[in-house]
Amino acid sequence: MPAVAEQGGSAPAVGRLEIHDLSIRFGTNPVIENFGLTVEPGEFVCLLGPSGCGKSTVLNAVAGFVPVESVTVSVDGRPVKGPGVDRGMVFQQYSLFPWKTVLENVAFGPRMQGASRAKARSMARTYLEFVGLLAFADRYPATLSGGMQQRVGIARALVNHPSVLLMDEPFGALDAQTRGLMQENLLRLWEEIRATVLFVTHDIDEALYLADRVVIMSAPPGRVLLNLAIDLPRPRPDDVFALPAFAAAKRQCLTLIRQESQRVFDHQRRNFS
Ligand SMILES: Nc1ncnc2c1ncn2[C@@H]1O[C@H](COP(=O)(O)OP(=O)(O)OP(=O)(O)O)[C@@H](O)[C@H]1O
Ligand SMILES: [Mg+2]
Repeated sequence: MPAVAEQGGSAPAVGRLEIHDLSIRFGTNPVIENFGLTVEPGEFVCLLGPSGCGKSTVLNAVAGFVPVESVTVSVDGRPVKGPGVDRGMVFQQYSLFPWKTVLENVAFGPRMQGASRAKARSMARTYLEFVGLLAFADRYPATLSGGMQQRVGIARALVNHPSVLLMDEPFGALDAQTRGLMQENLLRLWEEIRATVLFVTHDIDEALYLADRVVIMSAPPGRVLLNLAIDLPRPRPDDVFALPAFAAAKRQCLTLIRQESQRVFDHQRRNFS
């Protein structure tokens, strides 16, 4: 993997994400209530919870896509008031521009930031090489597999050098084999760039494999139910799934998520029957 000169180093000093007492309602529907979470620079946190509990809403609030009171979300002490290049987002649906080539897709961010065409393309090439897709720079997204498109999505987020990387079920649409490879790939990238990562998934195995810390959200209105440090070796060994610590953490998460999913189900049945 090529070194990414502008980033790297072992002790990241930036990317401290603070979410303090976040509450969001859509109309009269309270979706998030008193949600609090601090993610340290360079930490990898996975957010888990039943479907509809507000995981994407939390991510969107951090990305600046959902208006929140300015005091509730901050990065390195700066209040989030809207989208910004300090936060990169990777979506489940790859959301690439279909009419642009892979290279143009990745170069788009730096161009918007005022880089010259040549500089933006050179930065894009660096990050495409980083995700192993430089050979596909001139292809259009539709001609790539889902996993490849998602790697372009990751390159597109990383090229802006975000201190916080937000990922909303980025591997949810991939087959199990590709997902496993993408997870390994992502950890290797993360070990090099040391960005802070907030990663949403509903796959407990994926969360435990990736994260330093797993945060489980309650049934709506979503708040933090469990904040669990994952005490597994890094780099993750091949047999990590067989370790007793993995099994214990998985049991704990599974019990809680099952309980919260049941609450969502009961709530929906009461309200819509
Ligand atoms: N823009 C919006 N307008 C109105 N309601 C919304 C909006 N965005 C989300 N919601 C509602 O907020 C709740 C939480 O949605 P959200 O997408 O954050 O959940 P989630 O935990 O990401 O779910 P999933 O696991 O299915 O992706 C849902 O009830 C959803 O219908
Ligand atoms: Mg979601």
